[in-house]
Order: sequence, then C-alpha cells, then structure tokens
Amino acid sequence: MSLKPVPHIEALEEYAVTSQDVWRIEDPRAAGRVLKLDWNEAPAVHEIVRERLAEFLARPGSINWYPDVAALDLSKAIAEYLGLSPLQVLPFGGSDVALETVARTYLGPGDQVALVHPGYDNFRIYAESCGARIHRVVPGPDPLTFSMSAFIGAIRALGPVRLIYLIQPNNPVGYLAGRAELIALLQAFPDTAVIVDEAYIEFADGEPTAAPLIAQFDNLFVGRSFSKAFGMAGLRLGYVVSHHRNLAHLRKLRNGKNLTMFAQIAGTALLQNIALVRQHVERVKAGRRSFTEAFRARGGTILDSQGNFALLRVADPQEVIFRLKLEGIYVRDRSTMRGLEGMLRLTFGPPEVMARVLTAFETMPAGLWQTAR
Ligand SMILES: Cc1ncc(COP(=O)(O)O)c(C=O)c1O
Repeated sequence: MSLKPVPHIEALEEYAVTSQDVWRIEDPRAAGRVLKLDWNEAPAVHEIVRERLAEFLARPGSINWYPDVAALDLSKAIAEYLGLSPLQVLPFGGSDVALETVARTYLGPGDQVALVHPGYDNFRIYAESCGARIHRVVPGPDPLTFSMSAFIGAIRALGPVRLIYLIQPNNPVGYLAGRAELIALLQAFPDTAVIVDEAYIEFADGEPTAAPLIAQFDNLFVGRSFSKAFGMAGLRLGYVVSHHRNLAHLRKLRNGKNLTMFAQIAGTALLQNIALVRQHVERVKAGRRSFTEAFRARGGTILDSQGNFALLRVADPQEVIFRLKLEGIYVRDRSTMRGLEGMLRLTFGPPEVMARVLTAFETMPAGLWQTAR
C-alpha cells in the first residue's frame, strides 16, 4: 500500500504545465532560430546580466558559499526602484515562491479564496495545498471583460473570504483595473488579504503599480517578477511588497538560501541600469502595437492587451500551433480554458520578431486563422 498524502494534496488538481520542448533541440542553429513565445518570457538576455555574472563567477565563493540570505543590496535597489523602504520589500526565488509564501502564511483548511478567472493558475495550487476552498470568479458578463463592481459583487456573495487574488495586467486576457478600482476592492474587503500579482506591470501603459497603496492598506500584497521585463526567468527572482508587519510573518517561512547570488547580482545590476529595461519594454510595446494592427488588418482576431502577450482567436488552434512550430515559433494553447475556446496566447517581442510571426501567419492558409472576415 502506498503512503497517502494529506487529503487536500491528494485531491489537488495539478497545474497543467506545457512541456519546455525547446530544451531538447540539440542543433544549435535550430535552437538559435526558435521564437519562444509560449511562456511570456523575454526574447533575449540583457547583456549587462551576462557581463556581471561572468565577473561574479570569477570571485571566490561564488558557487561554494551560501548566498547573502538577507539579499541586502538587492532589497535596497528594489526599494529605490519603487520609492519604498527596504523594509517593505521581500525578495524570493521567483514571484511564484513569494506568493506561495503569502498563501502559506495566511491560509488554513477551509478558508475561502477568490481567484480571478481566467487567470494564471499556479497560485491556485498554493492556496489549495493549504486546504483552502477555491472559488474561480469571472469578473464580468463574459470571461474577457473586467468589471470591478462585478468582481466585488461575486466575492461578496461567497461570504467571508480570507484571500483574493487579482492579476494586473491579467494573464492571459490582458486587461488592467485602474487605481480607483483597486482602492474600491481594498476598501470593500479590509479584513481579507488581497494579492495583486504584477508580474507584467512594466508592460502596462504608464506602469500603474499598486505598490504605493501599501501605505494606505495593510491588507495588500503586491507580487512582482524579474522573469518578464527583466528577462531573468531562468535565474528565478521575484518579490513581494507589503506592510512591514506582514513581511515579518512571511520572513518566518522564507528560506534566504534559495535566492542565489546569481539572481541577486543580476537583478541589482538591472535595477541600477533601469534605462536598459525600459528601452526593452518600449520595444516590446512597439511590437505589440505593430502586430496587433497588422494582424487585425489581415482579418485576424486579437485582444487588446496591457501585457507582453495577447490572446488570438483562430479558426483551427491545433493546426495553427503545429504550423507555427514548424517555423520554430512556439505559442501557448489556451483553447481548452473555460471561456477561451479557439484561443492561443502569444508573447510579444520587438517589431522585428513580430514581423517574423506575421509572415508565418501569412504563409498559412487563411482559413486556419482568420476569424474576423
Ligand atoms: C501572472 C503571473 N504571475 C507569476 C508568474 C511567475 O513568475 P516568476 O517567474 O517570477 O515565478 C507568471 C509566469 O508566467 C505569471 O504569468
């Protein structure tokens, strides 16, 4: 007889991760041609990261010593970037881990959790693994439209809710709630932990972060990532911003050994050279604009998005994914998500990257992807 896990882990529905096929491409020329547009990563590494890591590797202790568990330089650089105190930021090995720690700190068996739907599904795993009861809340008349009053109303109908999870901008839909709407949410649920996951906020017009609201609302947790605009998904770095009293509790669970010096050094270097990140973001936003316009002009359907990705509705999702893959272009199938029938999610890169994607669509039979004509 095999050992049984605790009941809520046994019942847990696994996160549906797609395989990272690109790691199995052995021919370096083929690997170099790949456009990996399926996980909302950056298309390239900021060169300063390679340089700083090469310098660091040559230093004594770089691999054989444990990292700086307090991550002091990094915390100061993040605080400066956001105009906060280092006591209000806590770095982790990825924003996933940061938000998992929030879940483990505040959730127990039977607690109700409201997750925006559609949405990034990873946080559900952490909440469920604490025994919490999950409610997927569609915040509008249909899954592609966001209305804060609908979101608040649907959560109120659940009774007492211990934690709310909102994504800004929403992955995969791409919408963004405004500052006044966030304030309305925080005011409506003053005794509920509210997570605003800002993994993609750098790509939103005006970078409308909720971070300054922590001064007013001590129930707010803002999650941020270095995997997207900062192009460091493989190094694993993210952080949470909240009232320092909340972070004192999170710190009890945090294992500082899990945040490598490689991640700390790379993250600090980019924050000290933030203009490089901003230039990259502007180029991706230019790619977002040019592709969205051109795709629509050719009879394609693509949603407006505030992230480095967007949903496309195509006539034959499986065939489109297959044909793009033959061109070395990887996109994410979202057509099996409730409310996203016929949809693919595509990560944006700079205009030259998006021109290649457009050509790949143009060379496919139009009947496979055109839905707007
Ligand atoms: C909304 C959202 N939050 C968090 C993450 C994970 O970020 P990280 O790589 O910092 O763990 C992702 C990754 O795709 C995401 O889409």
